[in-house]
Amino acid sequence: MSIVDIEGLTFSFSRKEAPVIKDFSLSVGKGELVGILGQSGSGKSTLLRLISGLETPLSGTISIAGTTVVSNHVFIQPENRGVGMVFQDYALFPHMTVKENILFGLSKMPRKDRKQRVDEMLELVQMEKFEKRFPHELSGGQQQRIALARALAPKPKVLLMDEPFSNLDADLKESIREELFNILRKADMTCIMVTHDRNDVEAACDYSIVMGQADVKNHISPKKFQSIK
Ligand SMILES: Nc1ncnc2c1ncn2[C@@H]1O[C@H](COP(=O)(O)OP(=O)(O)OP(=O)(O)O)[C@@H](O)[C@H]1O
Ligand SMILES: [Mg+2]
Repeated sequence: MSIVDIEGLTFSFSRKEAPVIKDFSLSVGKGELVGILGQSGSGKSTLLRLISGLETPLSGTISIAGTTVVSNHVFIQPENRGVGMVFQDYALFPHMTVKENILFGLSKMPRKDRKQRVDEMLELVQMEKFEKRFPHELSGGQQQRIALARALAPKPKVLLMDEPFSNLDADLKESIREELFNILRKADMTCIMVTHDRNDVEAACDYSIVMGQADVKNHISPKKFQSIK
């Protein structure tokens, strides 16, 4: 079964302009890690915002784990879609500790279970000793791991990441990247990752697609890379 199913998705910021995303289709299976490549301005972030419900398409449908989350007749709110998101700048809440940041997404979980889930997440990203720290007291790579822990804590059906390594220097990036993908594989997480770096794709993704290529008119068939599973 596919976890994310996108069919005929078209989106424009204004009626006067050509669509940013046009008749786009994509299907992502359980546990797959898909890379989204493409030039600046090609619509990569917009695609993630459409999947998570931060934008509404002109037409097309998106289903997540078999439930239609948007179509001509349906619009499910972002918080009810089962989507986790890691933003380019991590977007941790600066006035909250690590623990509070992770707790933030757990409001739907029974109160008694929350503490245990936070502990599990801290263990997963190997940050147990940091729960009382504030984001500004962490390195870039540590912040990245906390952003990941926060996104995974509510058990999303799919994780969306927008250039998750863009703030890291090359050395750190390599070790963090490996660690991140080990964590995702361990959790059998379905994941769509925007990146501008083909090395990310080759290191980790099952396959990748390129946004905004005229010759494929945004209707993209995945180019399979060798799976590392
Ligand atoms: N809020 C907005 N209003 C109008 N146009 C927008 C808005 N946000 C983005 N755009 C335009 O939509 C197009 C796609 O933007 P998007 O942010 O999805 O690109 P991207 O592929 O993520 O680029 P980058 O690699 O630079 O992050 C761009 O041409 C951009 O200028
Ligand atoms: Mg972007």
